[in-house]
Amino acid sequence: MKLIAYNVREDERKYIEKWAKRNKIEVAMTDARITAETAFLAKGYDGICALQTSAYEAEMFQSIAQLGIHSFAIRSVGYDSVDIEAAKKNNVKVTNVPGYSPSAIAEFSVSQALQLIRRVPAFNQRMEEQDFRWSGLISKELKHMTVGVIGTGRIGQSAIDIYQGFGSKILAYDVYQNPDLKDRVTYVEEIAELFQQSDLITLHAPALESNFHMINEAAINQMKQGVYLVNTARGSLVDTDALLSGLNSGKVAGAALDTYENETAYFSHDWRGKTIEDTRLQELLDRSDVLLTPHIAFYTEKAVENMVDISLDSVKELVEIGKSRNEIY
Ligand code: NAD
Ligand code: COI
Repeated sequence: MKLIAYNVREDERKYIEKWAKRNKIEVAMTDARITAETAFLAKGYDGICALQTSAYEAEMFQSIAQLGIHSFAIRSVGYDSVDIEAAKKNNVKVTNVPGYSPSAIAEFSVSQALQLIRRVPAFNQRMEEQDFRWSGLISKELKHMTVGVIGTGRIGQSAIDIYQGFGSKILAYDVYQNPDLKDRVTYVEEIAELFQQSDLITLHAPALESNFHMINEAAINQMKQGVYLVNTARGSLVDTDALLSGLNSGKVAGAALDTYENETAYFSHDWRGKTIEDTRLQELLDRSDVLLTPHIAFYTEKAVENMVDISLDSVKELVEIGKSRNEIY
């Protein structure tokens, strides 16, 4: 068996090399993203492992199927960028990596929440100007806040554990209510209840057609004055224009965004010295009430190691036995 990994970063190489040695399987590496144009690089290989936030497109699945490749593993949890219909049509099985390290994302999202509520970005801005005053930037404590968690799967649960350590009251909303959590969080039946009662709202749901822009103008209107929003899930969950209006009016006191709806052109790329054409992205970058990070909540050693190992295990399973426990459909 021969495998090829696309879009490999320097920090992933050692884990791929270790896996290849352990399993006695050749794994070629390229820094190219996988598209219809780069699919030819996989000629002669049995399976593909890839990671990107840009789309895994229909034409790409057609190209790899023409090369006789039907085993495809992505190294992420989220698979919203996979054209599932095209994969199915071309008889390509696709796996993801559920739970490579939920705490990586949860810890990051809570640390961003803390920075927001303690007004760290605004204090940093003052410090740069040698303005050492406190006035106007009094903050809140998680211990006395109600945190609304949307999506109580692996990452949401890990975030709940951390917030409960701080003593926050948790309201939770999920389309599937986890029975194991019912005795320690208050699930709301209607998301509106969570919007109305939360001091801070944190998003941990996957991107689906059904929840596109779930945080829109109507949702923000229902929220408390001075609410905080944390999004380490997917950019498409938040209508950025509505969020910017909410921030401008003061309805939203601050937002920590690790994902942004039009991030793919920018996040993970070196944009130094170049103009940012996306005016909304520029506005988010310029604000001291917004903490913007380039989709790095996952980016820890443990997470990256697991992303590599589990995705390669899955593609190996697909090649060897035609199935994997991590298939996405
Ligand atoms: P998971 O599948 O364990 O949990 C997701 C939960 O969301 C499930 O309980 C599901 O029922 C729930 N859900 C689905 N639709 C919903 C909706 N409309 N409203 C409320 N809840 C809904 O997934 P996870 O491991 O917790 O990951 C969640 C998401 O986090 C991923 O899909 C991915 O988009 C994102 N993520 C981001 C990063 C990052 O680096 N920023 C890293 C990993 C994952
Ligand atoms: C995920 O695993 O879903 C992420 O968001 C990580 C990213 C590198 C795609």
